[in-house]
Formats: sequence, structure tokens, C-alpha cells
Amino acid sequence: MLRSWSLCTLFLSAALGSAQTLRQASPWASGVGLADRIGERPEDWPLLTAQFGHVTPENCMKPAAIRPTEARWNFDLADKFVAFANGKDLKVVGHCLVWAKDDRTPPWFYQDGAAPASKEVLLARMEAYVAKVVGRYKSKIHAWDVVNEALADGQGELRESGWTRAAGDEFIARAFAAAHAADPAALLIYNDYNNELDGKREKMLRLLAKLKAGGAPVHAIGLQGHYEIDRVPYEALEKTLAALRALGLKAVVSELDIDVIPRGRWWADGNKHRAEMAKINPYVEGCPPEVLARQAEQYGRLFRLFRQYDDVIIRVSFWNLHDGQSWLNKFPWARVNHPLLFDRQGHPKPAFTAVLKELTAPRPPVPAK
Ligand code: GLA
Repeated sequence: MLRSWSLCTLFLSAALGSAQTLRQASPWASGVGLADRIGERPEDWPLLTAQFGHVTPENCMKPAAIRPTEARWNFDLADKFVAFANGKDLKVVGHCLVWAKDDRTPPWFYQDGAAPASKEVLLARMEAYVAKVVGRYKSKIHAWDVVNEALADGQGELRESGWTRAAGDEFIARAFAAAHAADPAALLIYNDYNNELDGKREKMLRLLAKLKAGGAPVHAIGLQGHYEIDRVPYEALEKTLAALRALGLKAVVSELDIDVIPRGRWWADGNKHRAEMAKINPYVEGCPPEVLARQAEQYGRLFRLFRQYDDVIIRVSFWNLHDGQSWLNKFPWARVNHPLLFDRQGHPKPAFTAVLKELTAPRPPVPAK
């Protein structure tokens, strides 16, 4: 693999001039989400360190991993991840301090004996958790996803959860304040999915206005960017980036991928398509060239748009290193997927070439407001 990788980069560097990698060519930080045990997989390191400068642990820093029960703190994998990254000159994005969903919050947070925890108890637990975790990695972790996925998809502003039931929207401002107090130098991010889309975008902007008015230290917005082929929401994304620019807020594209086996119907029509969809697995033997070309074209268009907002975007992180490691091989059903810029051998795909081409082209003009 290493030999062919070097040949590929040589070829690309000849074709594209001196900027050979995402890390070198990006006007923003080039990042990637990584399976927790990256430190045990030296075969991944050359690709990782050539292409990316920022790393997000996929799971080991989530509350369910770090403190599954009130009595049990578990920093083992997170410590190893941070030590690995610090040793390789990779900046760490901590992910995430509060995941505002019931199925992602360890149940002990919500309970006080047999009764639901009061607002005071829940917020005090959250603040103690944030202080301990952020404090432990002070100056070793450069940015935190402080609150993940708090906005509602349907009715209402916020997703209903134990957090909102006990504490309305106050837990969000309090989480940011606690993270800032524990590490005043850390960049603090509000992260969500579909928050570029009409409707959810406005909810996010209202939340941000309120947080800002209250003085909450929110420094950037994370747009997860889990897209599907032929359905990348370019126009909505552009509106969102323009709105963030107008507010003087920074954006990170925090978990980018383009699924080649669209999954949206999985949740449609009362979940009635699931049995049928669970059989869909068309690209076991590899992704057909025409699909790879379409994916490349769509990634290229996306990065052309990103470059028009390179004063707003401060990082673009892909969600996983290569196709073989993508969460979309399992979620929401098992299939052989091909959503990233590198294939299962770590070789650059047509999408990589398309992205590099956009990153090294003259900057596209910024559209009139
Ligand atoms: C969300 C979360 C991530 C991760 C992905 C799936 O986007 O923010 O931590 O769980 O889902 O891998």
C-alpha cells in the first residue's frame, strides 16, 4: 500500500504542482474523524499525517465512553488518543461534551434515585463533568464540540430530551461557560446535522443569537456534512455560510462524507421501508466508475463553494480516514460503502483529485450578497 500511495502522490504532485495533499492545499485546517485505536494502527499513519492536521476521536470521548455510570470514569482510550495525536503534531478536536439526545446521554445524568434529577442536580453534574474532562486535556485539546445535536428536526426549537425537560435551553449556555472556564484558550463549537437546511438553520440562528446575547463563549458552528450522493444541499449550505458570515461567526465542516447508497428513506413513512432497504448492498465488489465520477463532481462542487467562504470556514473534517473505516458501512444498515476521498487501500479516489483540483484552482469569486 505504501509504495502505491507514494506513486500516487508523486503522480498527483506532478499533475497539480507542489500542493500534493489536503493538508498542504487547504486554506483551512484539514481534519478527520478517527476510530479510537489509531495509535495501534501504524499502517494508517502515513496517509493520516500526510493529509490531515486535526483529528477527532470517533467515540472514545463521548460521555457514554468517558463516564458510563456515575461511579465509573474511563479515560483510557481518550488518553491514548490524545497522547498519540500530540506525539504526531496533530491537533485534537474533543467530541463531544454534551450530546443532547436521550439515547446518547448515560442514564445516570438524568436520575436522582428513583426520581428524575432536578435542574440544579442535572446542571451541576454536567458542569462537574465538563470541568473534569476539559481540565484534564487543557492545552492538549485545541477545540471542543461542546454541545452536539440539540436542535429539533421537526416541531419545536430544541430536541426534547432529559436536558430540555429539566433545564429548558439553559444547559447549552451553561455547558459553554463551563468549558470556557476549564480551558479559556479552547475553541468552542456548537455541532449539529442538517443545520444548514431551511427551518433547522433558522432555529440554529435563533439559538446563536440568544447564546451570543447572553455572552456565551460560542466560537464556531459545526456543520456535520453527512451528505448523500445527488442530494448535497448546496443552496441551503450557501445560505447558511452567508448567514454565519453576516453574524461574524466561524464554521467548521465537522464530519464530511458523501454516501453513495442513499439512506434518507430509512426514516421515511413511519420506517416502513427498512426491511427492503436492509437488503440493498450494490457495491460489494467495488464502486462503479460512473458513481465515483459523480461523487467526485459533487465533492468538487462542494469544495468550490467552501472556497468562496474561506473567511468563514476554519476547518473541514472528513468522517473517517478511508472508505473501509466509514461508519456508513454499518449505519443505518450494513452495506459496503464508498463515501470518502480514499478507498479501502488508502488510495486516492477520483473525489480526491476533484477536491485537490478545487483547492489549488484560483479562488472563485465571492457571490454578491
Ligand atoms: C454523529 C455524531 C458523531 C458520530 C456520527 C456517526 O454525527 O456527531 O459522533 O457518532 O454521528 O459516526
